[in-house]
Amino acid sequence: MSASEVFHGRTAVITGASSGIGAGLARHAAGLGMRLVLADIAADRLTALAEELRATGAEVEPVVTDVADPASVTALADRAHERFGVVDLLVNNAGIMSMGWSWEIPAERWDAMLRINIGGYVNGIRAFVPRMLERGEKAWVVNVSSVGGMLPSPLMAPYSVTKFGTLALTESLHHEMLMKGAPIQVSVVTPGSVKSEIFRAARPGESLPPEVTAFNGHLQDLADEHGLTPEEHAERVFEMVAEGKYWAIPQPEQLFPALQPRTDMILRQENPRPPRG
Ligand SMILES: NC(=O)c1ccc[n+]([C@@H]2O[C@H](COP(=O)([O-])OP(=O)(O)OC[C@H]3O[C@@H](n4cnc5c(N)ncnc54)[C@H](O)[C@@H]3O)[C@@H](O)[C@H]2O)c1
Repeated sequence: MSASEVFHGRTAVITGASSGIGAGLARHAAGLGMRLVLADIAADRLTALAEELRATGAEVEPVVTDVADPASVTALADRAHERFGVVDLLVNNAGIMSMGWSWEIPAERWDAMLRINIGGYVNGIRAFVPRMLERGEKAWVVNVSSVGGMLPSPLMAPYSVTKFGTLALTESLHHEMLMKGAPIQVSVVTPGSVKSEIFRAARPGESLPPEVTAFNGHLQDLADEHGLTPEEHAERVFEMVAEGKYWAIPQPEQLFPALQPRTDMILRQENPRPPRG
């Protein structure tokens, strides 16, 4: 079935919805005729997007949320159920980037990465899945990881850690839903380069080692010049999720050529080679 046949009239909650990938998913979901609960910590951007989508006729509830705070995510779930009575689709997407030598990244930045990129997803699962299970009808949980969740990278260790963690968390949840016999489809998204603010937002005001500045600039340029637009990315993701796919891999060409050699090297117990550039 197509995404519009599956999702029209259903209710989605999307975290990190006011920018980049999340905003693309929100715009595409509105186009599919979904009712939307948009969550983000950036209140002004969230209001602007909600107004934009309402102007197209969509029903939208913006909820300023800090996904790192369990109480804030519970309040988000309460608000979503008050407004729409049901949540069919949860997209855990809010995430941040930190770059640097792993031993130099400040402890508070490591902590923020773990609390937002992993804790935020755990908070989403804890706040929404019990009500999905209780309802017992078809529902979806979609977690956004990254090609970086399968290909570890230097100079962004906290990101690699959290995106690998997202794969583990999502696959555990998938198996648990099967064990429960629950009609909840779990999917993991592994975007490649997508135009967004994530690398610009990762540059703290302080001066960084030249290798880090250069790598950040390289990844930003890659996304700006060759990345999918968030809307193109969203269309691919919704179609794959609607088809029932666990693995929602929107840009296989950016993952498979590196994943296969990495897997082969692990099976041969070879030491990791310098990563892709
Ligand atoms: N852009 C890419 O190339 C790319 C590639 C792979 C994976 N991803 C993943 O996609 C997701 C979205 O990233 P993006 O590239 O769109 O970045 P982005 O910076 O454009 O958007 C991230 C959004 O998350 C929000 N956010 C940050 N902290 C939050 C918090 N504590 N609570 C609620 N919202 C918070 C931000 O305000 C922002 O709106 C992330 O999980 C990222 O790891 C992005």
